[in-house]
Amino acid sequence: MKAINLLGSTGSIGTQTLDIVTHHPDRFRIVGLAAGNNVKMLAAQIRQFRPKIAAICSQEKLPALQEAVKDLDPQPILLAGEAGVIEVARYGDAETVVTGIVGCAGLLPTIAAIEAGKDIALANKETLIAGGPVVLPLVNKYGVKLLPADSEHSAIFQCLQGVPKGGLRRILLTASGGAFRDWDVEKLAEVTVADALKHPNWSMGRKITVDSATLMNKGLEVIEAHFLFDLDYKDIDIVIHPQSIIHSLIELQDTSVLAQLGWPDMRLPLLYALSWPDRIYTEWEQLDLVKAGNLTFREPDHQKYPCMQLAYAAGKAGGSMPAVLNAANEQAVALFLEEKIQFLDIPRCIESVCDRHQNDNCTNPSLDDILAADRWARQEVLNATKKLATSSRIISVR
Ligand SMILES: NC(=O)c1ccc[n+]([C@@H]2O[C@H](COP(=O)([O-])OP(=O)(O)OC[C@H]3O[C@@H](n4cnc5c(N)ncnc54)[C@H](OP(=O)(O)O)[C@@H]3O)[C@@H](O)[C@H]2O)c1
Repeated sequence: MKAINLLGSTGSIGTQTLDIVTHHPDRFRIVGLAAGNNVKMLAAQIRQFRPKIAAICSQEKLPALQEAVKDLDPQPILLAGEAGVIEVARYGDAETVVTGIVGCAGLLPTIAAIEAGKDIALANKETLIAGGPVVLPLVNKYGVKLLPADSEHSAIFQCLQGVPKGGLRRILLTASGGAFRDWDVEKLAEVTVADALKHPNWSMGRKITVDSATLMNKGLEVIEAHFLFDLDYKDIDIVIHPQSIIHSLIELQDTSVLAQLGWPDMRLPLLYALSWPDRIYTEWEQLDLVKAGNLTFREPDHQKYPCMQLAYAAGKAGGSMPAVLNAANEQAVALFLEEKIQFLDIPRCIESVCDRHQNDNCTNPSLDDILAADRWARQEVLNATKKLATSSRIISVR
């Protein structure tokens, strides 16, 4: 029976993880839960899963959470704020921490979990993108496992089982193409938030759905793959695969190519991150290739989606640049979701902030350097937005 601390329990990753636990009570149990704001859902989860500890990041929501579960006996430890979330990450006898927090907010709790000797089922890609230079040495120092739960990285990890050291030649990350894959580039200037949130294949949180529409999600995954699989950027390629049946591929030294296939369902990579190296029987719909029909592929359009190249450039620059790219993206996407900037302003913001960081890129950043770069990049995006808010256009930072 594997004990789990789940961060971001009220989100898309969090609720799918709890679905797995519900259906496999003989294999998994919940020790700790942490969420951001959603008291109602967190309280319901506490009632159902009876964790020993739970935290809500919003400090002011703690009284409401205490009130909502006050009849439970025994009472869980209830905490609030970032410190509370960190305490859940490092708490008790949990072997594995599932990181389903969105954004760089996941970095400090993930580090706390590693330092407490817990294996990480990594959904929160922003943690590794921003914090790779400090997270990876800690993973080695504490001898914990970093198990990918992102579907593409899980696919690569699954294909790599049994491949001898030195056997891997390159990887191919598949991309659905996001909400606008069939839109003309000219129309992208007019897209609304609602348009960007219509993902063709996956149901996910709002931030990652917008990242999929800009294809920054794939760019972030390139950096994530670089850190997870220790690959040079020239050996990480992207291919558009609209059906999202092949979740990614690896090419071996002899040109043999291996792929992992399945319906687009995040529970599968999450389950594997929790059960590795075992395989657990599930009642999920089996893949039917005839029903899936055609599997097609095309080149990614870098002109239409500049975020991919921005991510490759930031990844190759290394140091604190990926943290800056990630933070600028998080801030720009948040502003887009608040309808304060336009869709095409997202890559413009990111490029402009990354350009300004070039001379200050810290090649061997400490955690403090990464956190400072993250804060700086967010503020740069906000400053650029404020400066131009008075002009007739909502924003253009270029
Ligand atoms: N969804 C997917 O299918 C998918 C696939 C691959 C990778 N990922 C990655 O997984 C992560 C989560 O994505 P998601 O789609 O699940 O996002 P989501 O649906 O927006 O959920 C985010 C979760 O994080 C919580 N949260 C936000 N800030 C927090 C903080 N400071 N402290 C504690 N909890 C906090 C939210 O709590 P409240 O709701 O209570 O505010 C919510 O539970 C992202 O890094 C994403 O890139 C997701």
